[in-house]
Amino acid sequence: MPALDPPIILGIESSCDDTAAAVVAGGVLRSNVVSSQEVHANFGGVVPELASRDHQRLIVPVVTQALDEAGLAKEDLDAIAVTYGPGLAGSLLVGLSFAKAFALGLGLPLVGVNHLEGHIYSVFIEDDPPFPYLCLIVSGGHTQLVRVGEGFDLRLMGRTRDDAAGEAFDKVAKLMGLDYPGGPKIDEHARRGDPAFHAFPRTQAGGYDFSFSGLKTSVLYYLNNFSEQERAALLRDHLADLCASFQQAVVDVLIDAVRRAVRETDVRHVAITGGVSANTRLRAEAEALARDEGFRLYLPPLQYCTDNAAMIAVTAHYKLAAGLTSPLTLTAKPSLSLDDATSAT
Ligand code: KG4
Ligand code: ZN
Repeated sequence: MPALDPPIILGIESSCDDTAAAVVAGGVLRSNVVSSQEVHANFGGVVPELASRDHQRLIVPVVTQALDEAGLAKEDLDAIAVTYGPGLAGSLLVGLSFAKAFALGLGLPLVGVNHLEGHIYSVFIEDDPPFPYLCLIVSGGHTQLVRVGEGFDLRLMGRTRDDAAGEAFDKVAKLMGLDYPGGPKIDEHARRGDPAFHAFPRTQAGGYDFSFSGLKTSVLYYLNNFSEQERAALLRDHLADLCASFQQAVVDVLIDAVRRAVRETDVRHVAITGGVSANTRLRAEAEALARDEGFRLYLPPLQYCTDNAAMIAVTAHYKLAAGLTSPLTLTAKPSLSLDDATSAT
């Protein structure tokens, strides 16, 4: 194999329930390994204690596989990048402790990456949007609209006031008897359903803020209107219609925010990232909106929408180029916000 371009960066991501490692060389992705934990499926959500134990079990094999698939030994690396927040404390600690030990042992710089920055720059894995661009992050933990300027200049335009979009998908899926994570399952059922079957509310939270908890509650109230027997029959005969109707309500709210942001700012490049950006309906409507409004849309390929380490390694590529490294005293920050994005100390 020919020598790879420097810097060669190992990225590690363990903030929630995916144990992931990736190698980026000269800004180009060389390997990307994600081990999605299955232990949570029956619990309707991520169980933190089980997640950290599974990260401990998986971190070494996942990193080994990422190096193997890149055709590299650990001595070939130039830097170690790792998510240090936001996320579950125990989960973050496993990846961060491993990364710090690896960096110390190999005498390499450590680059702490904010998970949200990772989602924002995930579009650079396969594309190269010009600055500034608008980024709608829609994941299980966050829903934020951010203006991304050159040099890690991140300006928060709006955020959810309660549930994140992915969280709403997961909670509503649970109400409908679907396993965690519910987003992909709702997406799948919705393809065969009628989005106009029931009109769930589209909540405007003011400005570019979002609110999804009312929508979730309205699905609960709607289902509770029926007797147990009727509800079972409804979910048997109209599951696809209910999924499509709920999904359409979320998509309408997200698309409306992007439409207003494009009309009200001079930004003509828009990225949609995070787990919910894998949603079929959201992707189709965003593409139609981009055509109608005349902006360029950046949607990561599906494997880079949900949590992965490629986005962490790619973000670190740009941080390293800007001279942004972190001390080995870096600690896990479960509630890290975007304001802390560039100061990984
Ligand atoms: O970005 P991500 O992997 O983790 C967080 O940072 O939270 O996002 C996970 C979320 C979950 O809530 C999951 O249900 C949702 O993304 N999701 C989807 C789809 N694929 C994943 N939601 C709707 N449609 C999908 N196709
Ligand atoms: Zn994420």
